[in-house]
Amino acid sequence: MFICGNNYTIGEVGKLVYSTIKTRIFFPGARLIRSPFYIRGKKRVSYGMGFSTGYGCRFEAIPDSKNDSNIKIKIGNNVHIGDRVHIVAIDTVSIGDNVLLASNIFISDCNHGKYSGDSQSSPAIPPDKRELHGSPVNIGNNVWIGENVCVLAGVTIGNGAIIGANSVVTKDVPANTICVGAPARAIKQFDSSLNQWNSIATSN
Ligand SMILES: CC(C)(COP(=O)(O)OP(=O)(O)OC[C@H]1O[C@@H](n2cnc3c(N)ncnc32)[C@H](O)[C@@H]1OP(=O)(O)O)[C@@H](O)C(=O)NCCC(=O)NCCS
Repeated sequence: MFICGNNYTIGEVGKLVYSTIKTRIFFPGARLIRSPFYIRGKKRVSYGMGFSTGYGCRFEAIPDSKNDSNIKIKIGNNVHIGDRVHIVAIDTVSIGDNVLLASNIFISDCNHGKYSGDSQSSPAIPPDKRELHGSPVNIGNNVWIGENVCVLAGVTIGNGAIIGANSVVTKDVPANTICVGAPARAIKQFDSSLNQWNSIATSN
């Protein structure tokens, strides 16, 4: 296999050139959107300068009516996401500035059906026929989300937070906190006076 000076194979360089041309044409202002990139509802997606994605990402910005032109997926400046990141929004998924998402991440602001509160969904209805229920997801600035993470509907992740690999985020994450696990629990918080991450005592 021939390797170029920058350690990419010729095939990889070809893919990068192809992705760069497509980025310039279809995603002005973005740094590099690697193809394939699947996007549903492009006019309902906004992104800031320097946005880059890995291969095989999928964004679905689903309108709640025919005339719904609201922005559903908002991405700030200098956001970098890895391969196969899947984002679904019927309400809003908002991602701040300087956010790093690793690969194989799922972020969704909705569920097929409702399983608590009023008007719950019957299991007799096929899941794909159950009404979508949305609740916004907000991801702050300077957040880092590790590999294989799921961020579920209604969650806010504060500025500077870190989500460990393989976590499932079901509840809000405070700013400057490291959370891990399924469901994700806080393990460390940043102390800016000492410039260090302190462990958070847990009961188990
Ligand atoms: C979250 C993370 C940054 C924490 O780093 P850290 O604070 O140095 O972690 P520590 O080694 O001090 O671990 C603290 C505790 O959390 C646990 N832990 C750390 N990461 C964990 C994770 N992802 N899932 C579950 N538990 C985790 C450790 O086992 C340890 O538990 P213990 O106190 O019972 O021994 C790191 O573990 C991680 O998951 N990084 C993501 C890597 C990644 O996805 N990279 C993609 C490149 S963009």
